[in-house]
Formats: sequence, C-alpha cells, structure tokens
Amino acid sequence: MCGIVAGIAERNVVPVLLEGLRRLEYRGYDSCGVAVLRDGAPHRVRSLTRVRSLDREVREMGLEGWTGIAHTRWATHGAPATQNAHPIFSQNEIAIVHNGIIENFEALKITLSGAGYEFASQTDTEVIAHLIHSYYQGDLAEAVRRAVSELRGAYAIAVFCKSEPERVVGARYGSPLVIGINGKESFLASDPLALSDVTDRFIFLQDGDIADLSHNGTRVMNRDGQPVVREARTLAHPPTEAALGPYRHFMQKEIFEQPLAVSKTFPRNSAFDASLFGATDPQAFAQIDRILLLGCGTSHYSALTAKAWFESIAKIPTQVEISSEYRYRETIPGKNTLVVPISQSGETADTLGALMHAQSLGQDHTLAICNVATSAIVRQSRWSFITQAGPEIGVASTKAFTTQLVALFVLAVTLGRARGYVDAQQEASYRSQLSGLSTALQGVLAREPQIIAWAHEIARTDSAIFLGRGSHFPIALEGALKLKEISYIHAEGYPAGELKHGPLALVTDAMPVVVTAPNDGLLEKLKSNIQEVRARRGQVYVFADADANLSNEEGLRVIQMPEYYGALSPILHVLPLQLLAYHTACTRGTDVDKPRNLAKSVTVE
Ligand code: G6P
Repeated sequence: MCGIVAGIAERNVVPVLLEGLRRLEYRGYDSCGVAVLRDGAPHRVRSLTRVRSLDREVREMGLEGWTGIAHTRWATHGAPATQNAHPIFSQNEIAIVHNGIIENFEALKITLSGAGYEFASQTDTEVIAHLIHSYYQGDLAEAVRRAVSELRGAYAIAVFCKSEPERVVGARYGSPLVIGINGKESFLASDPLALSDVTDRFIFLQDGDIADLSHNGTRVMNRDGQPVVREARTLAHPPTEAALGPYRHFMQKEIFEQPLAVSKTFPRNSAFDASLFGATDPQAFAQIDRILLLGCGTSHYSALTAKAWFESIAKIPTQVEISSEYRYRETIPGKNTLVVPISQSGETADTLGALMHAQSLGQDHTLAICNVATSAIVRQSRWSFITQAGPEIGVASTKAFTTQLVALFVLAVTLGRARGYVDAQQEASYRSQLSGLSTALQGVLAREPQIIAWAHEIARTDSAIFLGRGSHFPIALEGALKLKEISYIHAEGYPAGELKHGPLALVTDAMPVVVTAPNDGLLEKLKSNIQEVRARRGQVYVFADADANLSNEEGLRVIQMPEYYGALSPILHVLPLQLLAYHTACTRGTDVDKPRNLAKSVTVE
C-alpha cells in the first residue's frame, strides 16, 4: 500500500527517492510520483505505470534537486489517475505526499473551498495541502502542526514548501513514518527498508509527532509544539529484496523457501519457554486463562488454524477475531487474556487498531506474532515472536503464513507446558514433529508437476469450492483466498459438513471442488462429503494423505500427500493449495506477484 520516501540531501536526492520507491513497490500501488524543489519552484513527475517508467521519465526530464518527496499510491479517495497521484501541490507552493485516510476531509474541503481554494484532485490529501498552505506564515513545521490538529483519521505525511527550500517536514498519526539519518542528510520513509541504501540509523516517530528535517539536524515535536526526544536506533540493514534465482515469480520462490523458513523459525532443539517470546519471567504466562487472536486476511486464517492447537494442547478457551470487526465491537475483556495480534508486516492498520483497542480495555498481556521486528505492532506489544520467513515480496502471503503457524504452535505447546497439560514426553514428541517439518514440506513440494496438470484444468473455470474439516477448514479458506487473490477465479472455502446447507446447489459437472483430506479423526465424514459432490457430478480434486486410502476414480482426482503429520498437518496441506493457485494464475497470465487492487502492507483502514 502507499509508500513515502522524502529527504533533504547534500546531493541530488532523486536517485535516493526512486530507489526507495522501488524498494516499497512490493507493498502494492497503482500510481507513483516524485517532486523536488529546483530554481525556487516545485517540479513533479507522476506516473500511472511502474516506478521503472517514472525513473525513465525523470531522467529524460533531468529532474534534480536536494530537497524532495516521493510516493507510491494505492487509491482510496479518487481513482488511479494522474491528477490524483502524489505529490499533490497547493498553489504551487506546498508539496505533499500522504499515506492514510482523512475521515473529515469533506467538511474540511467545504471550508477550504469557501476560503477560495480550488481542488484539482479527488484526493483527501489535497485538503491537507491547502490546509497547510492556509496556515503557512513563514514556518512550515508550525503550519503542519496546526493543519494536522484539524485532521481526523490516519496520516503519515512529508511536505516541503517553496519558501523554505532546505526543509522537509513530516508528521504521523496511525500510519508509520521513520526518519533516517546520514550525517547532515536526513530522510523520511514509511519503512526503513526504503532507506537501507543510505543509512542504518533510524528514529521511529510516534503518533502525534512532527519531524522537522533540515541541514542543521532533525527536530521532533509533539502536537503541542513541545520538543520531544526520540532515540535513534541502529538497525542491521534490512535484507534487500533477493534475486529470483531459478524461479519465475517471487511467490513461487517464497513457496519453495518454506522448508527453510519453518526451520529457522523454530531451530532444532529449541526449548518451549516463555523467553522465546521475550518474557523474562518464566511464570509470565502462568495466569493466562483466555486467548484472543487478532488478524486480517491470511493472518486471520492462521489464527483460525491455531485456535484448535490452543484449545487441544494448552486447554485455553480461544477467541479469533477479524481485526477490523473486533475494534468496533462491544466485547467482554478479561484481565488474564493473552491478546495475540498476528501480522506478517506488523503495520496493518486494522490489526494495530484492534491491538490498541484491546489494550484500552485493560488487557495488557499482549504478544505479537510478526515477521518484522521493527514494526509498529511489535513495538506496541509487550512480548513478541519474530517469524523468520525473511522478506516476502509476493502480495499473496505464503511463507509468512506457514511460519506464523509454527510460531502459534510453539506458543500453544509453551502454554500447555506452563499450565501442566503437556508432559515431558509430549513435549519431546512435538519438538520432533517440528524438527521433521522441513523435510516433510520438501516432500510436499515435490508434487509440483502433478499440481501443474490440475492447474491447467482449474484455470478454465470461473468458480471453485474448497472443502476441509476441523483444523483443515481454515486451510480450505486459505486455499480459496490464494486462488481468488492471484487468478481472479471466484472461490469459496467451506467446512465440508456445511456443503449440504447451501453450496451444494452450486455443484455441477463444471464445478471444481478441491478437498484437503488428512487422515485424521474426521476422514470418514469427509469421505461422505466427497460422495455428496460426486453424486452431483462435481469434479473433485483431493489432496489426500498417503494413508487416507483415497485414489483416482471417475470424477475423483487424487494427489497423494505424505502420511498424516499429526497436529501440524495443516502446515503440510496448505502448500499444494498455494501451488495450485500459483500455477492456475500463471496459466491465466495474471500479474502473480502484484495482483490487481491488492497491497502487501495495508496501512489504511
Ligand atoms: C494484505 C495482504 C495479505 C495479508 C493481509 C494482512 O491484504 O495482501 O497477504 O494477509 O494484508 O496483512 P498482515 O501484514 O497483517 O499479515
């Protein structure tokens, strides 16, 4: 989703800004732009294509300057169109880039229109630009401070103005913004990754902060204009986006990285100990009597999968909530509830909002499961577990999902141990299952050629149903989500027992029904559900454990998985569904890594 890079350098800042945008591309965007101050006036280039094309245009125009701001935009207010792309100008004096959503922009627009401001875009951002212009009296930071005090909603902004050429001002509330410092140069970005080429020193701004960047240094003040101290931190360079190697897309590469990612996330022979989650007191989890899992999209499905583990292994009642619903719903808080926000990016606005909402209800046992150690959700949580998936570039999440599952399983066993429900023998057995997971996943990935053959068939349909039962129902949901995200085929995940209560009406000989069939206690029931589909001539595609005793017959195609892998079986079963979605999308020729309308890091509500 939207990305900001801005800075005041002692050289032409444009290459830094464009490299930063390139690094933020994976978040998803539909337009991009850059503006610099040159010869006493702001100049900009905006593009509806990729950052690569913007770069070409910028070079052709010879756009250069020491002070600049740049942006990738994921449309919210106003269609992806040049006039809505950022940077947005006010009166050719103020230039701004903005992430987030301003909820009261309509009311502000009316007031500003009344004051004579004309609007050239449909964006909420233009309201901020004009508001800053209206308050500007020679001090940009003060004008920004006054302007943002009128905003309701979420924002991260970077602004420059033509009268103060050696100054860039940033502000944030609800959307992330960091300062990067390199000697006399300073930069702003929505993610340190964008600046990893120029610095490893960062200041993470907090909600309400206003940052004033100039060659004289960096000042941070709060919304009252009082100076505040924000410590600079040295970060080991965030890993840059790796090369594709032998793979066609990042998604395929990331699917194949899963055996390594899961073993890094829980190294062999690790202890199931509270210290794994950053808790110094070994008794930290002892009084936990309820779990609340929060997440969006794929992270919500990892929560649904893990609910079964928390209840069966740790015997703790577990509630799963979609972040955007939970934060606006009346709920019953518990003071011994462990609140677990799950997020690959750690920046998802809804999950961050849900976490803060849970905290506002007095629930302060919070533990983030996240793939980014420096993210807002990790910083907002008391404890955390950082998954070791490495950077995930494909918008459709794969290795972030399976490593989240490993983390959640480890948490369930740790809690089970702390509560006396997991004895030493069971603990050893769980550890050995985790240790063998990487090899088991390699065995599943070896099925890719068979899956490609199925993908060619599925690619011809407009609709598909995914079925699973018990702990594999969320895997069916995830399989359907992957397929719709990247191949644009309509897909629904259902608990197989629910089939007869509605979706069976959709089954014809043209409807593919994909089933995830582990050899668990529900297998016989699942087989009956498969028969219900076959009786209506539905085309059944089953991923069945080798010991599930299912084989190819008319109307029934089976790919044999390894033997049943116990409680961790959902992790094995999601891989073929990822591959099926991936190869179906390739067959249909979609932009697999950057599917239309979607973003990797969703920093607005
Ligand atoms: C976006 C991504 C999904 C992800 C969801 C939640 O929609 O495209 O892949 O599952 O956000 O993101 P999070 O970073 O919180 O896991």
